[in-house]
Amino acid sequence: MAPKLQPRVDGDLGSLLDSAAFLHQIVDALGSPLNVVLPDQLARNVQGFRDVYQARHLGGGIFFAHKANRSRALIRALAATEAGIDVASLAELQHALGAGFGLDRIMATGPKSREFLWLAARAGVIVNADSTTELTELAGIVAAYRLPRVRLMARLSGFASTGTNVMTRASRFGVPAARLATLWETLEKHQDQVEFLGVAYHLDTVGLPEKAVALEGCLHAMDEAQQRGLRPRAIDIGGGFGVSYLDDGRQWEAWTSELTGAVLGKRPPITWNGHGYGLRNEGGTVRGTLSVYPAHRTTSGPAYLDRLLGTESAAQRRALGTLLLDSLYDLHVEPGRALLDQCGAVLMRVEDVRDDLVRVAGNSADVALEQHGVLMDPVLVPRGAPAGSEPAGVYLAGNLCLEADLLTRRQVYLPARPRPGDLLVFVNTAGYLMDFSAGNALMQPTARTVAARRDRGGWRWCLDDQYWPVTGREETG
Ligand SMILES: Cc1ncc(COP(=O)(O)O)c(C=O)c1O
Repeated sequence: MAPKLQPRVDGDLGSLLDSAAFLHQIVDALGSPLNVVLPDQLARNVQGFRDVYQARHLGGGIFFAHKANRSRALIRALAATEAGIDVASLAELQHALGAGFGLDRIMATGPKSREFLWLAARAGVIVNADSTTELTELAGIVAAYRLPRVRLMARLSGFASTGTNVMTRASRFGVPAARLATLWETLEKHQDQVEFLGVAYHLDTVGLPEKAVALEGCLHAMDEAQQRGLRPRAIDIGGGFGVSYLDDGRQWEAWTSELTGAVLGKRPPITWNGHGYGLRNEGGTVRGTLSVYPAHRTTSGPAYLDRLLGTESAAQRRALGTLLLDSLYDLHVEPGRALLDQCGAVLMRVEDVRDDLVRVAGNSADVALEQHGVLMDPVLVPRGAPAGSEPAGVYLAGNLCLEADLLTRRQVYLPARPRPGDLLVFVNTAGYLMDFSAGNALMQPTARTVAARRDRGGWRWCLDDQYWPVTGREETG
């Protein structure tokens, strides 16, 4: 039997799973796959991050990384909170402007096209520059079109550790921290076009020591900028605070050790075609490394931010949060995945069940995690009375005519063998899994998205596009 990996489910998401009739009704109406987002949860998650700021007496913006989900409802709900938004494309910027974010609450990040730079400058949002070349191009646009000065953060990368040797990996993005002089010269040259607010980083890792080195590197860069006569006042530490997907960490340990056993041939496979997720058997010894996002994290989301701020600077022997506070710098963050914790689920209808193969109306791009992680067990929501059969270990096949189209290469655990018409619910998938990779291969439909809110013990829903935070027509009408 496949070892279980049961998802962590909190709050509204739990009560959504208990509403079987409602879930079947919306899939019957709108088709499978179907994305459900929970905008109210996003507002609660913003507060979770703000609590850390308050406890540490820090100010600054919580900029949600839009790329983690395309939903209109989520972005509009966010606009009704105090949070900002990090936009990484022209379309995301247009979306944020249309959802009602004020200009101080929008930060343009990532590599930028000329059109993206122009609209960011014309609208007057904060630009987080990725390189000195981009900064120069932005300054050129501001000068050519006689635009007001643009507020600018400069992204850095390639930080060197001062204390213990911490591994830092190369990044495609950001000005190398070893070449700050070029950045200062470019900023000085373009001071009529850009107002320098401070420095930034975003590291694509869950490693805390690496992030502490980067934050310390930013504090050092801020000192250098002050000495040059610049007046920066904010540090942006990007996203990457993470989510814990698994309810019980022991299941992760059990699964990884069973996987090792299966790779070595000591037990029947628990993955399709004996896939090793980076592990391989070399003459009876397991080699390679498990290359997946850890499904269980002891510290993630706001708690991870708090831990980072409590980490001591290697050079100054004081907590990084205290150093920020003493310098009166604002702290900006750009969480994507962590702000979407418990904010949604993908529903798929079971089409066919053959031995240990369950085919669903949806495919691997509709809950796409496999490049980075292992999918948790879906939740089975039977159509009628539960089948009452034994638990089952099954593989999940998608609706593409492709051998590789499995929703996950691991065998998942279900409490009973599903039947055609039942639903499988992939919970806690709002961050990246839901629509980051969704496409129209084979002209299969991409999921529609609905926004759902709890309402007097039941559920109220609307199409994603129809959601606006304003309520009360029924009360006032
Ligand atoms: C610049 C930047 N900020 C924030 C994020 C969000 O990261 P996460 O969703 O891991 O918090 C990303 C993700 O790629 C990013 O590139």
